Amino acid sequence: MAPRSKVEISGSWAPFYDRLMDLLFLGTYPRFMAGVTALMQVEPGDAILDLGSGTGRNALLMLERAGSTARIVGVDISEAMLRRARRRCDGHPQIRFVRRRIEQPLPFAEEFDKVFLSFILHGLQDADKRRTIANARKALRPRGRLWILDYNEFDLERMPWPLRWLFTHLECELASEFLELDLGHMLAEAGFGDLISHELLRGYVRLLGARKQVG
Ligand SMILES: C[S@@+](CC[C@H](N)C(=O)[O-])C[C@H]1O[C@@H](n2cnc3c(N)ncnc32)[C@H](O)[C@@H]1O
Repeated sequence: MAPRSKVEISGSWAPFYDRLMDLLFLGTYPRFMAGVTALMQVEPGDAILDLGSGTGRNALLMLERAGSTARIVGVDISEAMLRRARRRCDGHPQIRFVRRRIEQPLPFAEEFDKVFLSFILHGLQDADKRRTIANARKALRPRGRLWILDYNEFDLERMPWPLRWLFTHLECELASEFLELDLGHMLAEAGFGDLISHELLRGYVRLLGARKQVG
């Protein structure tokens, strides 16, 4: 039986993750992410929490904008992904990684300007999505912003067949369900507001920003 989620990257997949992304993005991934960090308004000195930080590629790209006074913490559960991330970010003391499950209690409170969730939420069960979003809220400073980069809401049946084939073969059942999720509503229930939505990659991907509401 196909797994409900494929978002936890095992030791055997970890060495190929970046290469797969390069292939899917036809070599434009760094440029794509540079655009994303600009839309996220990453600023010099930002403190950023990257939940499901993978191979650390995004952390390093965010550091390029946030500069030497920034602080970036990546959280991931996969030892193999963390090993790659630590190796990649060696020599950048502004970045550190911790091994934790992002839906379980995290040791961060009101200390980050931004929390980033990139291509992870779609693979979590709804209860774990809510727990992860609550963790993000707790970690953010008042009026800090959560940024979610993930699949947009779209009709899979109307997707051109080569892309649909890729989606259905690479992605899991939970990812298909995510396409119908009202994420804005989930964020509002979790105490976020002031939503900003940027549609990317022909509208198949969305960067959603939500501000932590206080009071
Ligand atoms: C699809 S990758 C995305 C990596 C990175 N954010 C990116 O955009 O390239 C998902 C990452 O989240 C991690 N992950 C999956 N489930 C997790 C969980 N419950 N807690 C912590 N990390 C998790 C995986 O190990 C993997 O590194």
